[in-house]
Amino acid sequence: MHVLSVSSLKGGVGKTTVTLGLASAAFARGVSTLVVDLDPQADVSTGMDVPVAAVNVADVLGSPKEKTVRAAITPSGWTRGRGGVVDVMVGSPAAINFDGPHPSVRDIWKLEEALAHVEAEYELVLVDCAPSLNALTRTAWAASDRVSVVTEPGLFSVAAADRALRAIEEIRRGLSPRLQPLGIIVNRARMQSLEHQFRIKELRDMFGPLVLSPQLPERTSLQQAQGAAKPLHVWPGESAQELARMFDQLLERVLRTGRVGEFATSEIPTQQPAGRLA
Ligand SMILES: Nc1ncnc2c1ncn2[C@@H]1O[C@H](COP(=O)(O)OP(=O)(O)O)[C@@H](O)[C@H]1O
Ligand SMILES: [Mg+2]
Repeated sequence: MHVLSVSSLKGGVGKTTVTLGLASAAFARGVSTLVVDLDPQADVSTGMDVPVAAVNVADVLGSPKEKTVRAAITPSGWTRGRGGVVDVMVGSPAAINFDGPHPSVRDIWKLEEALAHVEAEYELVLVDCAPSLNALTRTAWAASDRVSVVTEPGLFSVAAADRALRAIEEIRRGLSPRLQPLGIIVNRARMQSLEHQFRIKELRDMFGPLVLSPQLPERTSLQQAQGAAKPLHVWPGESAQELARMFDQLLERVLRTGRVGEFATSEIPTQQPAGRLA
């Protein structure tokens, strides 16, 4: 089972968008997937067409017993009439109660403990994280073997990505040796924008192959699919399909990096020419 946290220490940069895109790619590929909605905003649950649930991720964080874990997991509405396994551990605003700045070690391992009960049922677990480095994100990372850092190509993106990578390294050293960065996913890139080109170059100069390809362009089709709570891969139009292929490539990268020690930067696909994204 691959467990990937989708993180950034900032809100609004595209964590949920990336989680939804990867979940859609996994669904299209027939990879049995669990999406854990750890953000108290619970946007990924909405995007995956899952109703508000009486038992949800907050209950799991309170007590990660098998019965509670199973009760908090619901099939995504995406699978209705289509089959396939894409489940959601349903999010809740109550998760905010577990986002304190000083979690105990026991709290930090609660998601890992919870996932152990259902580990045999999924090939992939995606965790949509809260935009901070408080307890929820650390709980997510302790349960993960990879973290992807999402960033926009903006003025502070290098600093933001750097902070996130350092935080991952700190957790790896102090808590969970298997944790590795998958890399930086650049979202909302406008390749016609000189400013964006400059920022992407800056990221590459600083982080080299940790800047993943392809970078995701800004597209309204993404928002439309999200608004309709449909997977991107079934959304009509060329723009949605172009993005779907990009998420296929990113998913490939997630599934290729397996166990500890397999992380090889030389495997990272070469950058695409900027024109492809324009
Ligand atoms: N590549 C993109 N193209 C167009 N809109 C995007 C893109 N990425 C994100 N958005 C939109 O920006 C908003 C914030 O993105 P979201 O994924 O919710 O960020 P986060 O989860 O990090 O807070 C959402 O309305 C989303 O639809
Ligand atoms: Mg979000």
